Amino acid sequence: MSYNNILVEENNGITTITINRPNKLNALNKETIEELREAFKDEEEDEDTKVIILTGSGEKAFVAGADISEFANFSVTEGANLAAKGQEILFDFVENLSKPVIAAVNGFALGGGLELAMACHFRVASDNAKMGLPEVSLGVIPGYGGTQRLPQLIGKGRAMELIMTASMIDANQALNYGLVNHVVPQENLLPLCEKIANKIANNSLVAIGSAIKAINANFKDGVNGFDVEIQEFGNCFGTDDFTEGTTAFLQKRKADFPGK
Ligand code: COA
Repeated sequence: MSYNNILVEENNGITTITINRPNKLNALNKETIEELREAFKDEEEDEDTKVIILTGSGEKAFVAGADISEFANFSVTEGANLAAKGQEILFDFVENLSKPVIAAVNGFALGGGLELAMACHFRVASDNAKMGLPEVSLGVIPGYGGTQRLPQLIGKGRAMELIMTASMIDANQALNYGLVNHVVPQENLLPLCEKIANKIANNSLVAIGSAIKAINANFKDGVNGFDVEIQEFGNCFGTDDFTEGTTAFLQKRKADFPGK
């Protein structure tokens, strides 16, 4: 599959998706959002892909936001549709993907860029990264889940301040807030993400898919996360991965998970 705005590269089960509009600081226009959806869907179905890393091209930006030039003249209805469609086709889709998605935040992650990083399962940043939700400085609010995921990740008071002031925080502040898990020099960013991805890929991806579902259930309205955990825990007992994992342990050897 070839794309205009993203690059997809698979290496030993780790697939890196790179948003590739460096001249626009990788801003998310409609086509890029649609291509990302397509790529995530393909990789979810591709048996060779075990873990996905999402990053931005160039040394300056992960994603500097939704493409402002595309929505500057939108009406109330068009604005609501933009948020609804984006959340459905990309941001919620990524969050609920059964395969792990790591955001490698390699520079500015602003507005829709930070929202996309927050939809990923966790984040690693380079030390030049800057993050924020500056939407109120444009007279709008975050519309791709930012008002929900930022408080979930860093707490309500901090999210209120960050959104109200439209400020950016640097990578170390993001680490301090728990918004990112690690901060490293830019040249070490992808190597560290790949190292973590390889560690993940040694485990049962079927079990990991269940864990993602159960963890996400804690953040969904009207869903009891403990019930989802019980259900998913039970499902694991019917998988070949569970048979292999427990047998390997008892036989004192390394598990070789069939992924079923
Ligand atoms: N939408 C559309 N284009 C964007 C963009 C966005 N969110 N962010 C950056 N760009 C474009 C710029 O318009 C510029 O394009 P041009 O060269 O054709 O004029 C190019 O990317 C480079 O950006 P520039 O602003 O010149 O870089 P900078 O280093 O001076 O500033 C930022 C970097 C990130 C501080 C600045 O680009 C910015 O504030 N971007 C918008 C951030 C934002 O508000 N995002 C939330 C959107 S809801």
